[in-house]
Amino acid sequence: MLRAIYDWVDERLDITPIWRDVADHEVPEHVNPAHHFSAFIYCFGGLTFFVVVIQILSGMFLAMYYVPDIVNAHASVNYLQNEIAMGAIVRGMHHWGASVAIVMLFLHTLRVFFTGSYKHPREFNWVVGMLIFAVMLGLGFTGYLLPWDNKAYFATKVGVEIAASVPVLGPYIAIFLQGGDIVGAQTLARFFALHVFFLPAALLALLGAHFILIRRQGISGPL
Ligand code: HEM
Repeated sequence: MLRAIYDWVDERLDITPIWRDVADHEVPEHVNPAHHFSAFIYCFGGLTFFVVVIQILSGMFLAMYYVPDIVNAHASVNYLQNEIAMGAIVRGMHHWGASVAIVMLFLHTLRVFFTGSYKHPREFNWVVGMLIFAVMLGLGFTGYLLPWDNKAYFATKVGVEIAASVPVLGPYIAIFLQGGDIVGAQTLARFFALHVFFLPAALLALLGAHFILIRRQGISGPL
């Protein structure tokens, strides 16, 4: 049955070359934990991606209930958490996933650094990676404000004050982040937009570039 469906699609869209490109792609021995246990360090990029996919899926479900204004935000999160079937699980996945993503991202970056994989010819992908790192931290920072409780509010105030201490540009960055002179309604609105539109779009574009470069250049060689 599955074979018949595959053949039907393949006859029309010629998908076999795409599938073969993925399925026949050889994994070098030095990155295969079945050959060398220490090769598990090469798994962290894939694990980061796995968590990113979980964040996107769970975030899409949270967005069905979240209301991004200062009157309703907190109540909408409470409602989702306590009244909606599976709401607490989906929110918990997004909450803990955010921390796991940063840990995996850090381990992946350490692996790339200590295996010297940022060197020629992969400098460009390292720079793409640094941009991804900034976007991931931005997602964490903007997401933290969204429940609009005391912890969220004061953490954001502290974060904005740190940004405001940057020489010369600091005050402008603070006004840009807050959308005005204080952490308030405008801040929540723009953090929401950044968290669900701008930063995820930037992340997907950067990850596309990251993966294209990895496929073009191949994984770096053994130490
Ligand atoms: C969401 C974030 C990221 C994801 C999903 C991701 C994913 C991946 C994957 C799947 C690989 C293949 C090898 C491996 O898994 O170790 C890889 C390689 C690589 N990544 Fe990332 N990455 C991310 C962030 C970063 C960051 C922050 C940096 C550096 C600042 C970086 C730099 C690199 C480089 C240079 C390679 C090539 C390594 C080699 O050929 O050995 N990546 N990435």
